[in-house]
Amino acid sequence: MKDFPYATPATGWFQVAWEHELSPGEVRQLRYFGQDLVCYRTASGEVKVLDAYCGHLGANLAVGGTVSGESILCPFHGWAWDGQGRNTNIPYSERPVKVCIRHYPVRLANGAVMVWWEPSGAQPAWEPPKLPEFDNAEYYPANPHGLRKWTDLAFPPQVVAENTVDPTHFQYVHRAPRSTVIEKFETKGEYAYVMHDYAYGKHGTDLTPEGTIDGQLEVEAWGLGIIAFRMKVYVDAVQMFCVTPVDEHVSDIHFSVWLRKRDRSSPEPTPGEQRVIDEQFRQVAMDFPIWENMRYIVKAPIVREESPTYQNFRKWSRQFYLPTEGPLQNA
Ligand code: FES
Ligand SMILES: [Fe+2]
Repeated sequence: MKDFPYATPATGWFQVAWEHELSPGEVRQLRYFGQDLVCYRTASGEVKVLDAYCGHLGANLAVGGTVSGESILCPFHGWAWDGQGRNTNIPYSERPVKVCIRHYPVRLANGAVMVWWEPSGAQPAWEPPKLPEFDNAEYYPANPHGLRKWTDLAFPPQVVAENTVDPTHFQYVHRAPRSTVIEKFETKGEYAYVMHDYAYGKHGTDLTPEGTIDGQLEVEAWGLGIIAFRMKVYVDAVQMFCVTPVDEHVSDIHFSVWLRKRDRSSPEPTPGEQRVIDEQFRQVAMDFPIWENMRYIVKAPIVREESPTYQNFRKWSRQFYLPTEGPLQNA
């Protein structure tokens, strides 16, 4: 995407991995928020994220670093750094130095490893949500059948979040039989709620043999990095859509789907149920070529009929950016 007016990635909680990918002792090299990071899981199972560069001579802790207890050891001279970025040991010196590496708050929520990003390093202003469908026996676990990841997509989280208040694109991009109607749009602080009246499916298809069915699509957003979609129709599922900025131009997406079981005793989705999940993967990716190749128009001429909420959504999202960047108000 071209011409996005904010150079610094938006503040909030962002998914950097799934929890099951990291066993104790594991070290990962990450690049998010324009920063080189190291992520490691301690012996006690906590996940820590620090700036990648050692506070001694600057080696990259993610390349050859090893976990020892609750700390990570640098591959260059063996200095130990804890999850707060504090130097806890120098193997050949009596005491550690009072040097700190930047550390990032981490939460494990809904099977995801979430990291708090705020450009100046301020502490979290709010917490990531706990979805009621996670760890709920009525739903299939998202891992492994409902997980999908896309990397290095050329757009920021903003454009994905805005998509949740774009009723007409469902018809053109997702091949819905008609545009949706936004029946509710509410915001509170970092939280936004959108409810669409949605028409699903076409005549003679697998899922809708009798033709189009009306239902609801509920969207919740916590900042710009966590979006939950709930479909209330022939499919009962929640999708957690997490867009994480690699830098100001590029994002990764972690996508988790929890599908309600038709048969509670079933341990994993039936082939038919897996097709429903796969269809969500397919639908989600349909927007990507549009988002990657568009330019961002700040003063977009949104007409009254399509979405009176579109500009309100942009105004709500302004809070996640530095006040010194971008348009003062998305007029
Ligand atoms: S650079 Fe890390 S211990 Fe020396
Ligand atoms: Fe879309």
